[in-house]
Amino acid sequence: MSRAAAGRDTVLLRVHRYSPETGRRWVQEYRVPRRRGMTVLDALLYVKTRLDSTLSFRYSCRMGACGSCGVLVNGEPRLACQTQVADVERDGVVEVAPLPGYPVVRDLVVDMTRLIENHRRAVPTVVRRDPGDEEAPREYLVTPEQHLGYLQYSLCIMCGLCNAACPVYNRNLRYLGPQALTVIYRFLADPRDEATEKRIAMAASPDACYACHMAASCSAACPKAVDPASAIQRLRAATLKAVLGLYRKETSPVAPPLEKPLRRVEASYPTHNLVEGADPEAEARAPPPLDIDPENPPPVLAAHRVARR
Ligand code: SF4
Ligand code: SF4
Ligand code: FES
Repeated sequence: MSRAAAGRDTVLLRVHRYSPETGRRWVQEYRVPRRRGMTVLDALLYVKTRLDSTLSFRYSCRMGACGSCGVLVNGEPRLACQTQVADVERDGVVEVAPLPGYPVVRDLVVDMTRLIENHRRAVPTVVRRDPGDEEAPREYLVTPEQHLGYLQYSLCIMCGLCNAACPVYNRNLRYLGPQALTVIYRFLADPRDEATEKRIAMAASPDACYACHMAASCSAACPKAVDPASAIQRLRAATLKAVLGLYRKETSPVAPPLEKPLRRVEASYPTHNLVEGADPEAEARAPPPLDIDPENPPPVLAAHRVARR
Protein backbone atom coordinates (compact mmCIF):
# COMPACT_ATOMS: atom_id res chain seq x y z
CA MET A 1 0.00 0.00 0.00
CA SER A 2 1.40 3.44 -0.92
CA ARG A 3 1.79 6.38 1.43
CA ALA A 4 -1.24 7.96 -0.24
CA ALA A 5 -3.29 4.84 0.47
CA ALA A 6 -1.99 4.72 4.06
CA GLY A 7 -2.98 8.37 4.47
CA ARG A 8 -0.87 11.47 4.98
CA ASP A 9 -1.90 11.69 8.63
CA THR A 10 -1.81 7.99 9.38
CA VAL A 11 0.59 5.07 9.22
CA LEU A 12 -0.53 1.61 8.24
CA LEU A 13 0.62 -0.96 10.81
CA ARG A 14 0.63 -4.52 9.44
CA VAL A 15 0.85 -6.84 12.43
CA HIS A 16 1.52 -10.58 12.22
CA ARG A 17 -0.83 -12.29 14.61
CA TYR A 18 -1.20 -15.79 16.04
CA SER A 19 -3.95 -17.31 18.15
CA PRO A 20 -2.78 -20.35 20.19
CA GLU A 21 -6.42 -21.33 20.82
CA THR A 22 -7.29 -21.81 17.14
CA GLY A 23 -3.79 -22.15 15.66
CA ARG A 24 -4.71 -19.38 13.16
CA ARG A 25 -2.03 -17.07 11.79
CA TRP A 26 -2.95 -13.91 9.94
CA VAL A 27 -1.82 -10.35 9.19
CA GLN A 28 -4.01 -7.57 10.55
CA GLU A 29 -3.84 -3.95 9.41
CA TYR A 30 -4.38 -0.95 11.69
CA ARG A 31 -4.36 2.72 10.80
CA VAL A 32 -2.51 4.74 13.42
CA PRO A 33 -2.39 8.58 13.49
CA ARG A 34 1.10 9.97 12.86
CA ARG A 35 2.79 11.77 15.70
CA ARG A 36 6.21 13.37 15.74
CA GLY A 37 8.70 11.05 17.43
CA MET A 38 6.26 8.14 17.52
CA THR A 39 7.96 4.80 18.15
CA VAL A 40 6.75 1.41 16.97
CA LEU A 41 5.87 0.69 20.61
CA ASP A 42 3.78 3.90 20.75
CA ALA A 43 1.93 2.73 17.62
CA LEU A 44 1.31 -0.72 19.11
CA LEU A 45 0.07 0.88 22.34
CA TYR A 46 -2.28 3.09 20.32
CA VAL A 47 -3.73 -0.04 18.71
CA LYS A 48 -3.99 -1.83 22.06
CA THR A 49 -5.73 1.03 23.88
CA ARG A 50 -7.88 2.51 21.06
CA LEU A 51 -8.44 -0.05 18.32
CA ASP A 52 -7.97 -3.66 19.40
CA SER A 53 -7.40 -4.74 22.99
CA THR A 54 -6.80 -8.35 21.90
CA LEU A 55 -3.38 -7.54 20.39
CA SER A 56 -0.57 -9.02 22.53
CA PHE A 57 3.01 -7.77 22.77
CA ARG A 58 5.61 -7.36 25.51
CA TYR A 59 7.19 -4.20 26.86
CA SER A 60 8.18 -2.74 30.20
CA CYS A 61 10.64 0.16 30.51
CA ARG A 62 9.94 2.01 27.21
CA MET A 63 13.53 3.27 27.28
CA GLY A 64 15.70 0.54 25.78
CA ALA A 65 16.75 -0.86 29.13
CA CYS A 66 14.66 -3.94 29.91
CA GLY A 67 15.06 -5.73 26.57
CA SER A 68 11.47 -7.03 26.52
CA CYS A 69 10.00 -5.28 23.46
CA GLY A 70 12.01 -7.00 20.70
CA VAL A 71 10.07 -7.51 17.46
CA LEU A 72 10.78 -7.82 13.75
CA VAL A 73 10.15 -4.43 12.12
CA ASN A 74 10.09 -4.49 8.31
CA GLY A 75 12.18 -7.67 8.49
CA GLU A 76 14.80 -6.45 10.99
CA PRO A 77 15.04 -7.39 14.69
CA ARG A 78 14.59 -4.18 16.69
CA LEU A 79 13.48 -2.84 20.06
CA ALA A 80 9.99 -1.44 19.44
CA CYS A 81 10.53 1.32 22.01
CA GLN A 82 13.73 2.55 20.36
CA THR A 83 12.53 2.45 16.77
CA GLN A 84 10.92 5.57 15.38
CA VAL A 85 8.14 4.92 12.89
CA ALA A 86 9.46 7.74 10.67
CA ASP A 87 12.83 5.95 10.40
CA VAL A 88 11.46 2.59 9.26
CA GLU A 89 8.18 3.19 7.42
CA ARG A 90 8.16 2.23 3.76
CA ASP A 91 5.56 4.11 1.75
CA GLY A 92 3.63 4.72 4.95
CA VAL A 93 3.62 1.03 5.96
CA VAL A 94 5.30 -0.60 8.96
CA GLU A 95 5.21 -4.38 9.20
CA VAL A 96 5.63 -5.84 12.68
CA ALA A 97 6.17 -9.57 13.30
CA PRO A 98 7.40 -11.70 16.22
CA LEU A 99 11.16 -12.30 16.56
CA PRO A 100 12.34 -15.30 14.53
CA GLY A 101 14.22 -18.09 16.30
CA TYR A 102 11.78 -18.23 19.22
CA PRO A 103 8.45 -20.11 19.43
CA VAL A 104 5.50 -17.71 19.20
CA VAL A 105 3.24 -17.70 22.27
CA ARG A 106 0.63 -15.25 20.92
CA ASP A 107 0.76 -12.41 18.35
CA LEU A 108 4.13 -10.66 18.98
CA VAL A 109 4.94 -12.45 22.25
CA VAL A 110 7.64 -15.13 21.94
CA ASP A 111 8.94 -17.78 24.34
CA MET A 112 12.44 -16.74 25.49
CA THR A 113 13.14 -19.96 27.45
CA ARG A 114 16.02 -21.02 25.17
CA LEU A 115 17.71 -17.61 25.53
CA ILE A 116 17.39 -17.70 29.31
CA GLU A 117 18.55 -21.32 29.63
CA ASN A 118 21.60 -20.67 27.45
CA HIS A 119 22.34 -17.52 29.47
CA ARG A 120 22.29 -19.67 32.64
CA ARG A 121 24.51 -22.31 31.01
CA ALA A 122 27.04 -19.56 30.34
CA VAL A 123 27.26 -18.94 34.16
CA PRO A 124 26.63 -15.17 34.18
CA THR A 125 28.34 -14.42 37.51
CA VAL A 126 31.87 -14.02 38.81
CA VAL A 127 33.07 -17.45 39.99
CA ARG A 128 35.82 -17.71 42.60
CA ARG A 129 37.89 -20.82 43.34
CA ASP A 130 37.82 -20.32 47.10
CA PRO A 131 34.23 -20.90 48.37
CA GLY A 132 35.16 -18.73 51.37
CA ASP A 133 35.07 -15.72 49.01
CA GLU A 134 31.29 -16.03 48.85
CA GLU A 135 30.88 -16.25 52.62
CA ALA A 136 33.19 -13.34 53.43
CA PRO A 137 33.15 -11.11 50.32
CA ARG A 138 36.32 -9.17 49.69
CA GLU A 139 37.17 -6.35 47.36
CA TYR A 140 39.09 -7.30 44.21
CA LEU A 141 41.10 -4.74 42.33
CA VAL A 142 40.42 -4.16 38.62
CA THR A 143 42.49 -1.67 36.66
CA PRO A 144 40.73 0.75 34.27
CA GLU A 145 42.40 -1.07 31.33
CA GLN A 146 41.09 -4.45 32.53
CA HIS A 147 37.63 -2.92 33.00
CA LEU A 148 37.65 -1.65 29.41
CA GLY A 149 38.42 -5.21 28.27
CA TYR A 150 34.94 -6.42 29.24
CA LEU A 151 32.84 -3.25 29.76
CA GLN A 152 31.23 -3.32 26.31
CA TYR A 153 30.23 -6.99 26.74
CA SER A 154 28.62 -6.28 30.09
CA LEU A 155 26.08 -3.89 28.53
CA CYS A 156 23.87 -6.72 27.22
CA ILE A 157 20.20 -6.31 28.19
CA MET A 158 19.22 -9.85 27.10
CA CYS A 159 16.81 -8.62 24.47
CA GLY A 160 17.65 -11.62 22.27
CA LEU A 161 17.76 -9.59 19.02
CA CYS A 162 21.21 -11.00 18.21
CA ASN A 163 19.95 -14.57 18.49
CA ALA A 164 16.95 -13.70 16.32
CA ALA A 165 19.28 -12.27 13.64
CA CYS A 166 21.63 -15.28 13.72
CA PRO A 167 21.09 -17.84 10.93
CA VAL A 168 22.91 -20.56 12.91
CA TYR A 169 20.77 -20.02 16.04
CA ASN A 170 17.65 -20.34 13.90
CA ARG A 171 18.78 -23.63 12.34
CA ASN A 172 20.78 -25.37 15.07
CA LEU A 173 18.76 -25.81 18.26
CA ARG A 174 21.87 -26.83 20.22
CA TYR A 175 23.86 -23.69 19.31
CA LEU A 176 24.43 -21.48 22.36
CA GLY A 177 23.85 -18.33 20.34
CA PRO A 178 25.63 -14.95 20.28
CA GLN A 179 24.05 -13.71 23.53
CA ALA A 180 25.31 -16.62 25.68
CA LEU A 181 28.71 -16.66 23.94
CA THR A 182 29.08 -12.96 24.74
CA VAL A 183 28.38 -13.75 28.40
CA ILE A 184 31.12 -16.41 28.38
CA TYR A 185 33.63 -13.92 26.97
CA ARG A 186 32.49 -11.14 29.31
CA PHE A 187 33.45 -13.24 32.36
CA LEU A 188 36.51 -14.78 30.74
CA ALA A 189 37.83 -11.23 30.28
CA ASP A 190 36.91 -10.24 33.85
CA PRO A 191 40.01 -10.53 36.06
CA ARG A 192 37.87 -11.26 39.12
CA ASP A 193 36.53 -14.49 37.58
CA GLU A 194 38.48 -17.70 38.16
CA ALA A 195 36.39 -20.21 36.16
CA THR A 196 38.81 -19.85 33.24
CA GLU A 197 39.17 -23.55 32.31
CA LYS A 198 35.42 -24.10 32.50
CA ARG A 199 34.69 -21.09 30.29
CA ILE A 200 37.35 -22.05 27.73
CA ALA A 201 35.89 -25.59 27.62
CA MET A 202 32.37 -24.19 27.13
CA ALA A 203 33.56 -21.91 24.33
CA ALA A 204 35.41 -24.74 22.59
CA SER A 205 32.43 -27.15 22.66
CA PRO A 206 30.92 -28.03 19.23
CA ASP A 207 27.79 -25.90 19.86
CA ALA A 208 29.68 -22.77 20.80
CA CYS A 209 32.01 -20.36 19.02
CA TYR A 210 33.18 -22.77 16.29
CA ALA A 211 29.59 -23.27 15.10
CA CYS A 212 29.39 -19.55 14.28
CA HIS A 213 29.69 -18.55 10.61
CA MET A 214 31.02 -15.07 11.44
CA ALA A 215 28.51 -13.20 9.28
CA ALA A 216 28.06 -10.69 12.16
CA SER A 217 24.34 -10.16 11.66
CA CYS A 218 24.13 -10.46 15.47
CA SER A 219 26.29 -7.35 15.92
CA ALA A 220 24.29 -5.41 13.31
CA ALA A 221 21.07 -6.15 15.25
CA CYS A 222 22.37 -5.34 18.75
CA PRO A 223 20.75 -2.14 20.09
CA LYS A 224 23.45 -1.69 22.76
CA ALA A 225 26.54 -1.93 20.53
CA VAL A 226 27.70 -4.98 22.47
CA ASP A 227 29.13 -6.51 19.26
CA PRO A 228 28.64 -10.23 20.01
CA ALA A 229 30.54 -11.22 16.85
CA SER A 230 33.73 -9.66 18.24
CA ALA A 231 33.21 -11.51 21.55
CA ILE A 232 32.97 -14.76 19.57
CA GLN A 233 36.17 -13.94 17.66
CA ARG A 234 37.96 -13.23 20.93
CA LEU A 235 36.66 -16.51 22.36
CA ARG A 236 38.07 -18.35 19.35
CA ALA A 237 41.44 -16.69 19.86
CA ALA A 238 41.38 -17.62 23.56
CA THR A 239 40.51 -21.26 22.88
CA LEU A 240 43.27 -21.55 20.26
CA LYS A 241 45.80 -20.05 22.65
CA ALA A 242 44.60 -22.45 25.36
CA VAL A 243 45.17 -25.44 23.04
CA LEU A 244 48.70 -24.18 22.33
CA GLY A 245 49.30 -23.61 26.05
CA LEU A 246 49.70 -19.86 25.48
CA TYR A 247 46.58 -18.54 27.21
CA ARG A 248 47.39 -16.50 30.31
CA LYS A 249 44.87 -14.70 32.45
CA GLU A 250 45.77 -12.05 34.97
CA THR A 251 43.50 -12.37 37.99
CA SER A 252 42.59 -9.57 40.38
CA PRO A 253 44.49 -9.18 43.62
CA VAL A 254 42.49 -8.74 46.83
CA ALA A 255 42.39 -5.10 47.93
CA PRO A 256 44.44 -4.41 51.09
CA PRO A 257 42.46 -3.64 54.27
CA LEU A 258 41.45 0.00 54.67
CA GLU A 259 43.71 2.06 56.88
CA LYS A 260 40.68 3.70 58.45
CA PRO A 261 37.21 2.10 58.67
CA LEU A 262 34.62 3.70 56.41
CA ARG A 263 32.71 6.56 57.99
CA ARG A 264 29.01 5.93 58.30
CA VAL A 265 27.02 8.63 56.52
CA GLU A 266 23.51 9.36 57.74
CA ALA A 267 21.19 10.41 54.94
CA SER A 268 18.68 13.14 55.57
CA TYR A 269 15.52 13.63 53.55
CA PRO A 270 13.26 16.63 52.93
CA THR A 271 10.49 17.01 55.45
CA HIS A 272 7.80 17.35 52.78
CA ASN A 273 6.77 14.90 50.09
CA LEU A 274 4.84 14.95 46.86
CA VAL A 275 1.75 13.35 48.36
CA GLU A 276 1.30 15.84 51.17
CA GLY A 277 2.40 18.78 49.04
CA ALA A 278 5.23 21.24 49.54
CA ASP A 279 6.03 22.59 52.97
CA PRO A 280 6.33 26.42 52.56
CA GLU A 281 8.65 26.72 55.57
CA ALA A 282 11.02 24.05 54.21
CA GLU A 283 10.93 25.70 50.80
CA ALA A 284 11.81 29.07 52.33
CA ARG A 285 14.86 27.46 54.00
CA ALA A 286 16.03 25.77 50.77
CA PRO A 287 18.96 27.43 48.93
CA PRO A 288 17.93 29.58 45.94
CA PRO A 289 18.21 27.93 42.51
CA LEU A 290 21.53 28.37 40.71
CA ASP A 291 21.71 31.63 38.85
CA ILE A 292 23.71 30.66 35.75
CA ASP A 293 25.34 33.34 33.66
CA PRO A 294 25.07 32.05 30.03
CA GLU A 295 28.24 33.97 29.09
CA ASN A 296 30.22 32.43 31.90
CA PRO A 297 28.73 28.99 32.70
CA PRO A 298 30.21 26.74 35.41
CA PRO A 299 32.92 24.41 33.95
CA VAL A 300 30.70 21.31 34.11
CA LEU A 301 27.99 22.93 31.94
CA ALA A 302 30.54 24.31 29.50
CA ALA A 303 31.99 20.79 29.04
CA HIS A 304 28.47 19.43 28.50
CA ARG A 305 27.84 21.97 25.75
CA VAL A 306 31.08 21.12 23.99
CA ALA A 307 30.23 17.40 24.16
CA ARG A 308 26.80 18.02 22.58
CA ARG A 309 28.15 20.00 19.63
S1 SF4 B 1 28.48 -13.94 13.65
FE1 SF4 B 1 28.00 -16.00 14.42
S2 SF4 B 1 26.66 -15.63 16.16
FE2 SF4 B 1 26.70 -13.72 14.95
S3 SF4 B 1 24.97 -13.92 13.54
FE3 SF4 B 1 26.74 -14.72 12.47
S4 SF4 B 1 26.68 -16.94 12.88
FE4 SF4 B 1 25.35 -15.97 14.39
S1 SF4 C 1 24.13 -8.86 22.83
FE1 SF4 C 1 22.90 -7.11 22.16
S2 SF4 C 1 21.30 -7.97 20.88
FE2 SF4 C 1 22.19 -9.67 22.01
S3 SF4 C 1 20.87 -9.88 23.80
FE3 SF4 C 1 22.57 -8.56 24.39
S4 SF4 C 1 21.84 -6.45 24.03
FE4 SF4 C 1 20.45 -7.84 22.93
S1 FES D 1 10.30 -1.60 26.61
FE1 FES D 1 12.17 -2.01 27.63
S2 FES D 1 13.61 -2.15 26.02
FE2 FES D 1 11.78 -1.58 25.01
